[in-house]
Amino acid sequence: MALIAIAYLIAAICFIMALRGLSGPKTARKGVLFGVVGMGLAIVATMFNPRVEDHILPLVGIAIGGLIGTGIAKKVAMTALPQLMAAFHSLVGLAAVCVAAAAFYNPEAYGIGTGGHIHAGSLIEMALGVAIGAFTFTGSIIAFGKLQGLISGAPLTFKGQHMLNAIIGGVIVTLIVMLCFTQSIVFFWMIVILALVLGILMIVPIGGADMPVIVSMLNSYSGWAAVGIGFTLTNSLLIVTGALVGASGAILSYIMCKNMNRSFISVLLGGFGANGEAGATGGADNSDKNVKIGSAEDAAFIMKNAESVIIVPGYGMAVAQAQHAVKEMADHLKKEGVKVRYAIHPVAGRMPGHMNVLLAEANVPYDDVAELEDINREFAQCDVAFVVGANDITNPAALTNPASPIFGMPILDVSKAKTVLFIKRSLGSGYAGIDNELFYQPNTMMLLDNAKKMVENIIKALD
Ligand code: TAP
Repeated sequence: MALIAIAYLIAAICFIMALRGLSGPKTARKGVLFGVVGMGLAIVATMFNPRVEDHILPLVGIAIGGLIGTGIAKKVAMTALPQLMAAFHSLVGLAAVCVAAAAFYNPEAYGIGTGGHIHAGSLIEMALGVAIGAFTFTGSIIAFGKLQGLISGAPLTFKGQHMLNAIIGGVIVTLIVMLCFTQSIVFFWMIVILALVLGILMIVPIGGADMPVIVSMLNSYSGWAAVGIGFTLTNSLLIVTGALVGASGAILSYIMCKNMNRSFISVLLGGFGANGEAGATGGADNSDKNVKIGSAEDAAFIMKNAESVIIVPGYGMAVAQAQHAVKEMADHLKKEGVKVRYAIHPVAGRMPGHMNVLLAEANVPYDDVAELEDINREFAQCDVAFVVGANDITNPAALTNPASPIFGMPILDVSKAKTVLFIKRSLGSGYAGIDNELFYQPNTMMLLDNAKKMVENIIKALD
């Protein structure tokens, strides 16, 4: 047992190192490796636990799960990662419910008492774990459905919704107390059913634009559910790992809210994004304004004659998988003596670090990449802001229009550049569903095409 405890400790340290590594693109690969080693060690150590009697069944489960996971991870597009995360979190929630039910029906096997006489502490931990797990299960399924477009991303709100949620939450807490006193199986399953319902009710009012924050929060909940179950099973590694997932998910949600200038509570209570998905709002009426549309040759000419170009990647670059072409174009420009840098907005794309990952994949040097606060002042001095498939993160409505759903979000000040080149396929809106006045500015030239195709044509024109 001492050896197992040491192995668990090393695995926990590996998980901490994994999180540390994953905090930056330079160390991310090492971080993943630490995670793999930690999890491998945890599985092997658990297999040597004398309380594990059947070794075949867990190995079969690991093999099936591993195969399915590998298959899905290999196939999934980078843009679909948020919904994949939501789908996987739902399984963590379900696992927590299953383990708690198994422990409730057979407490002797888990060393937490006997049928009808489960230790009070274990019951509380189990009840909390099962409630959070069930909530995470249905909440994550709704989040997956919204992100995958299977159900409408628009917030579903009705009168008295928050009151209803508060009442259900209160009933769950009461049931947990009653379960501890009576050990009644009816109360156990009532907690499960009400938490499943609450998971649906809490996520349906949340709009599409807030969904990545919710996915990260559900990630956090799945961690706390694991902590509850870890206490029930007296498994120290599950407690540590669950706490790491729970805390990191909560911190990530907080950072996302901060970068979008959204209050955590208002995201939780939902409603944002309703107008956005319904149509273009929050901007001025631009129907009568002129828009300058340019070609790849125009863009190549402007950039070739520039001294400095700042590239602003956004979600459209990810969709078009244009990062390699963008890097090739930047290399061409550098050869011509143009200073090229990349500006990253903290919520560009659909998940934290989305653009950093794409640029790293294309081998863009880290030193060329700058975060919003470090580069924003440089737009005023630069010749060209080259926006590739980004929209909301450049929209001045965030600074000027209090009615806009993105009001208060910091933006990349591309409008200050001498020329703004915008690659996108249309004059349509971005994720928040609002018009962008920048498209109609005199110093803006729209390059309307698929991002990859347009950049490749610019490269040809540069040649
Ligand atoms: P968006 O505002 O969504 O704009 C992306 C633009 O890319 C769209 O306007 C679209 O215009 C264009 N596009 C799509 N496919 C394209 C293609 N194949 N080729 C060329 N252009 C294409 O993206 P953003 O500027 O990166 O902003 C991110 C948004 O997501 C923000 O609203 C942010 O709050 C939200 N969000 C992000 C996160 C994280 S953590 N990243 C979390 C929550 C919310 P066309 O259709 O006209 O081409």
